[in-house]
Amino acid sequence: MTKETTDKKELADMMEKTARGPFAPVYPILAERFYRESFLKKGLCIDIGSGGAQLGLAIGKISDFEIISLDINKYALEYARKNAMSMGLGAKFSALCGDVMELPLDSESVDLCVSRGSFWFWEDGVKAFAEIYRIMKPEAKAFIGCGFGTKEILEKVIEQMKALNPEWNAKRLKMFQDNPVEKYEGFLQAAKIKNYTIEDNETGRYIIFSKPLN
Ligand SMILES: C[S@@+](CC[C@H](N)C(=O)[O-])C[C@H]1O[C@@H](n2cnc3c(N)ncnc32)[C@H](O)[C@@H]1O
Repeated sequence: MTKETTDKKELADMMEKTARGPFAPVYPILAERFYRESFLKKGLCIDIGSGGAQLGLAIGKISDFEIISLDINKYALEYARKNAMSMGLGAKFSALCGDVMELPLDSESVDLCVSRGSFWFWEDGVKAFAEIYRIMKPEAKAFIGCGFGTKEILEKVIEQMKALNPEWNAKRLKMFQDNPVEKYEGFLQAAKIKNYTIEDNETGRYIIFSKPLN
C-alpha cells in the first residue's frame, strides 16, 4: 500500500469510528429536519462527502428517497455500502466515488442534496456549489454544512470527543472561525445561486438553497 492509500484508509476508519460512536445521535436529527423541510416524500437524494453515509441512510430510513452516497475516498464508500446493507437499505442505495467539483451525475437529476462536515475540505468552493446547483432538479433543495443537531447533542459530543482528543473542540471552533459565513456568501454569489439562507448558530452552520422552476 502506498502512503496515500494508507492515509485515505486511516481517515475513513477514523471517521467511521466517530460516526458510529460520539456522532451517532446527530444524523437522525439532521435527517428528520432535512426530509421535513424538503417538502418531498420521494425522489433521489445525494449525500455529498458522505463518509459512511450515516446522514443519507438516515434519510433513506424515514422516507421513500433513493440514496446516493458520494465521496472522494473509496474506503469511506466501502463503509457506506456495508452500512446500507446492514440497515436493509441496499436496494435503494448506490455509492459513487467522485469529487464534488466534478459530480458524475446528469444536470437536473437530483431532488435533495445533503452534506455534513465535508464543505471545509472543498478546494474550490465556487466550482463545488455550481456543481451541486447544476445537478439539482427545479424545486430541488440543498442543505450543505456542518451541524450537530441540538445544543444538548453537541455538548455530549464535545464531552466524548474531548476524552478521545483534548484538542477536538478547539479545532472544531477554529474551522468555523477560519471559514467565515462571508466566504460562503462569496462562493454562492459567484456560482449564481440566489435565494439562499445561511444558518450559523451554536449547533453548526447550514447553507440552504433551492432551485426555482424554469
Ligand atoms: C469529516 S468527513 C464527514 C463524513 C460524513 N459526512 C459525516 O458527517 O459523518 C468529510 C468527508 O468529505 C469527503 N470529501 C472531502 N473532500 C471531498 C470532495 N472534494 N469531494 C467529495 N468528498 C469529499 C472526505 O473523504 C470525508 O469522507
